[in-house]
Amino acid sequence: MTHFRSAHDVPNIPDLIDEALAFKTDPRREVRLGEGKTLGLVFLNPSTRTRLSSQIAAQNLGLNSVVFNAGSEGWALEFADGVPMNGTTVEHIREAAAVLGQYFDIIGLRSFPSLKSREEDESEMVMNAYLKYSGKPMLSLESATLHPLQSLADLITIRERWLEKRKPRIALTWAPHMKPLPHCVANSFAQWVNAWGGADFTIAHPEGYDLDAQYTHGAHITHNQEEALEGADFVYVKNWSSLEPYGTVLPGNLDWMLTPEKLGVNTRVMHCLPVRRDLELSAAVLDSAHSIVVQQAGNRVWAAQAVLAQMLKNL
Ligand code: CP
Repeated sequence: MTHFRSAHDVPNIPDLIDEALAFKTDPRREVRLGEGKTLGLVFLNPSTRTRLSSQIAAQNLGLNSVVFNAGSEGWALEFADGVPMNGTTVEHIREAAAVLGQYFDIIGLRSFPSLKSREEDESEMVMNAYLKYSGKPMLSLESATLHPLQSLADLITIRERWLEKRKPRIALTWAPHMKPLPHCVANSFAQWVNAWGGADFTIAHPEGYDLDAQYTHGAHITHNQEEALEGADFVYVKNWSSLEPYGTVLPGNLDWMLTPEKLGVNTRVMHCLPVRRDLELSAAVLDSAHSIVVQQAGNRVWAAQAVLAQMLKNL
């Protein structure tokens, strides 16, 4: 695997899950793989889980890692060509990314969408510019449209929790939020569950909150949350902003918050975190045996380690 930006970069998802679980059993089984190599972790946006799990994963592989909080501590970058840089931008992406390419063997990048222009976000302009001008393998730490390390950790968690022979029934349900949030986690979860093919998959959201069909294709889609939750073994809760108009919060839908009464006895509840209690999910759900969100976050280490191991083997 050269780059890791979406499910499409992964030759075999079940094999990658197996590799992650092998690292969970024995974290240092390939402790010399990254020797002499350096991973750059470039954050244009905040992070807790992605940053820390990637650093621990790198450490387990003997790989040096350097965190660069470029969004808050780096120079303001210009991405447009042919414009005089006489405004607020200080350095052009052509030089900035090329310099990172001199320092790092693999570059991890977190770059959220602007949520202002759907076309620009869907073009993955920032991720592609870093890839083009650094010339190095790119590890997505969440891009404008997708969050593949999160989705791999989600599937690892489902694999660990699901011991029955039949396919699990998975429901992805929209949840309320007062701020417009990216579609990345929901897009990515849908893309990975569909590519994996190991589940009966339903997506529920209010009208106006469609996800891009290129990610959801293969799932049953409904505007009825009750229908989606009926018989679900796993319920993945996530807010995302509207698609049309792009990147807004539509009025209403507060009753989509997940509460214990909506769940079956054995339903497991997932969320990528951070989560707003008693807005997206009731505290009663998060504090109950239904919730597997901490296990899910823990599995971010093994997801990152499995991906980094495959990328290192390809250097
Ligand atoms: N789920 C997730 O990516 O968490 P962070 O934003 O804290 O990295």
